[in-house]
Amino acid sequence: SKPSTVTLNGKSYPCDDHTNVPPHIAQCLSRKLHLIPNHPISITRSLIESQFPSPVYKSYNTLLPVVTVGQNFDSLGFPLDHPGRSRTDTYYVNKDTVLRTHTSAHQADTFRLRESDGFTISADVYRRDAIDRSHYPVFHQMEGARMWSRDSVPNGDIAAAIWKEIEQMPRHDLKVEDTAGAWDAERNPVQSEHTDAEAEAVAAHLKRSLENVVVEVFGQARKAAIAAGEAKESEVEEPLKVRWIEAYFPFTSPSYELEVFWQGDWLELLGCGVVKQELLKNADCNDQIGWAFGVGLERVSMLLFNIPDIRLFWSQDARFLSQFTPSTITRFQPFSKFPPCHKDVAFWLPSSTTSAAGGNTMGVFHENDMMEVVRDVAGDDAEDVRCIDEFVHPKTGKKSLCFRVNYRSLERTLTNDETNQMHEKVRQALVERYGVELR
Ligand code: PHE
Repeated sequence: SKPSTVTLNGKSYPCDDHTNVPPHIAQCLSRKLHLIPNHPISITRSLIESQFPSPVYKSYNTLLPVVTVGQNFDSLGFPLDHPGRSRTDTYYVNKDTVLRTHTSAHQADTFRLRESDGFTISADVYRRDAIDRSHYPVFHQMEGARMWSRDSVPNGDIAAAIWKEIEQMPRHDLKVEDTAGAWDAERNPVQSEHTDAEAEAVAAHLKRSLENVVVEVFGQARKAAIAAGEAKESEVEEPLKVRWIEAYFPFTSPSYELEVFWQGDWLELLGCGVVKQELLKNADCNDQIGWAFGVGLERVSMLLFNIPDIRLFWSQDARFLSQFTPSTITRFQPFSKFPPCHKDVAFWLPSSTTSAAGGNTMGVFHENDMMEVVRDVAGDDAEDVRCIDEFVHPKTGKKSLCFRVNYRSLERTLTNDETNQMHEKVRQALVERYGVELR
């Protein structure tokens, strides 16, 4: 007896056998962390946004997260068998409707509007995923894009127009490594609709624009780290280091990832590329060519503000939010570390599910189903969940899994009783929802 509708942002949607949006996710839709002025996600958003000023760029920050499968996947050229489409990875409102898994879901519609030459879109996005300090089923992304119309540049020479613009951009002091195999015809090709000169100019503008973001945003973060005594003053003298890596996305070509060298490690920041002409054609923009990028705001925010656990962004504890000031990067001061408590659960999967070969068939147990059960029961008191053992019984062919759940509140010490009760609920929910046999 499942409910026949699900209510999201006050609107009700019909359910079907695809529906998998649990209440704890539905409740997150109203939070809009990217719009709370002193929230680090919002501070990060506006810092990056300020690098893409109006009137060239228009920002869209209030687009609703309920989108069609067409918007989220089809318009972007995701193949029908792409794993991202599976119910194990994506929250389906019903078979035609999902919670957007990325801000790219709005690319085609925004191109079609033609309200400006460029845009940014910041929003909450939703993915079924692991539980650990850097993964949360709701997070925030910023999409950015810039277009040039062949019909509105002198002599239709887009490349020349773009290079002229690049000359006017601020020169930055940054060490850039480019290993992106930019013109690898097989793996990262220039599209047949573009000349090499056009693609090269678009990619150069894209790279310069994003390098400028890194200089501005990470430059400020480095000053904050020095002010907090976490880094040496001499570090400011050294140029920041970034590198471009070859990448693949179904809706850009060539595609790249940008990494930044930060506190001793290379860290991936964002994905981007030259927008596929097919997407633009379907958005009535075939006269245009341009670039797009997508950046994860939690990822960047955790680095800038030195936030150690992604759950903190969702904290309503004043000890978190009162630390931050609009438009300013400051280093997070932990309010104290409460003790963790881990518990294991081992179980046999029902034999019918062992034979099914992955995918999104009803009744197959996916690791993300374990994550969902733990989120349902423990909410933000679950710090991480790991599969620590997996084996198939040689005689019966039955599969056994063992997960270790680490419980820890960010705000207080959990009692032993509380933790035991939560863990018992997790065990029972596994039996009730998936028919597992506890060991
Ligand atoms: N949407 C992509 C992601 O979520 C990022 C991206 C955006 C890549 C725009 C290319 C262009 O990973």
